[in-house]
Amino acid sequence: MINHPTPTFPNSQMESLRSALPLLLLFLLPAAVHGWGVDGHYTTCKIAQGRLSPAASNAVKDLLPKYAEGDLASQCSWADHVKFRYHWSSALHYIDTPDNLCTYQYTRDCKDEDGVAGRCVAGAINNYTTQLLDYGKQTTQYNLTEALLFLSHFMGDIHQPLHVGFTSDRGGNSINVHWFTRKSELHHVWDDSIIETAEERFYDSNVENLVNAIQTNITKEWADQVPAWEKCARNQNTCPNIYASEGIKAACSWAYKGVGNDSVLGEDYFLSRLPIVNWRLAQGGVRLAATLNKIFG
Ligand code: ADE
Ligand code: ZN
Ligand code: ZN
Repeated sequence: MINHPTPTFPNSQMESLRSALPLLLLFLLPAAVHGWGVDGHYTTCKIAQGRLSPAASNAVKDLLPKYAEGDLASQCSWADHVKFRYHWSSALHYIDTPDNLCTYQYTRDCKDEDGVAGRCVAGAINNYTTQLLDYGKQTTQYNLTEALLFLSHFMGDIHQPLHVGFTSDRGGNSINVHWFTRKSELHHVWDDSIIETAEERFYDSNVENLVNAIQTNITKEWADQVPAWEKCARNQNTCPNIYASEGIKAACSWAYKGVGNDSVLGEDYFLSRLPIVNWRLAQGGVRLAATLNKIFG
């Protein structure tokens, strides 16, 4: 690939993360979230950080802003907070695929609403992975702290099935449903509600208990499949096209399945879909770690 400045992914080095953060909190309050909600992103990043090699762990700590105190998970929703300030970044959280096709193809689908190629979550994962390869060089044109936070966030997003969804319903954002007795949208159910309901019911409303439960599955029940999750074509540091293809399949088989406008999603939907959510959170964490371990050698 030709090394050129990437106007489709501006990466400002002028603004420091630190000075912007208090302002961002204002925007945050009732914010519509893109991607897993805060707990979903926290979970994938926490799982990833527990699987980093010593070299990757040191690089991550070096790149994180000081106030993160070495905790990547605490910063994994940063990309949602900057969507207003970095308006160009809002198309990088998802992929819209053709309605009802249940397939994904990079050249066909990875573009923004203006048709600009590469502006989707798979393109963003490739882009920030490439930027991070500059780590350790004397100079770089990129802000590698922002690259790390974007990559860590987008690796979560691409594993949320409806972030690789249908175009006309915007990944379920325009499908109105009831989550038990409350009005909601299908997309929000998958970003937040399934996870939140699981935390309340099974994890004492504590995200750390959810993280621990998924980590136990990764080392026990799913251990024999983890090497396949980590596998990428030779010479590739990350494989977002694989993750996105799995995503739209999961969206069709589980998220959209049996759901239309005004569907009531309750106990049956919750209990049958929670394993998929846990599975995708685990894959996101394992693959973020695998990608960072490759990048930082
Ligand atoms: N906006 C349009 N499509 C979307 C999707 N699949 N996920 C999140 N936001 C979107
Ligand atoms: Zn997002
Ligand atoms: Zn979302």
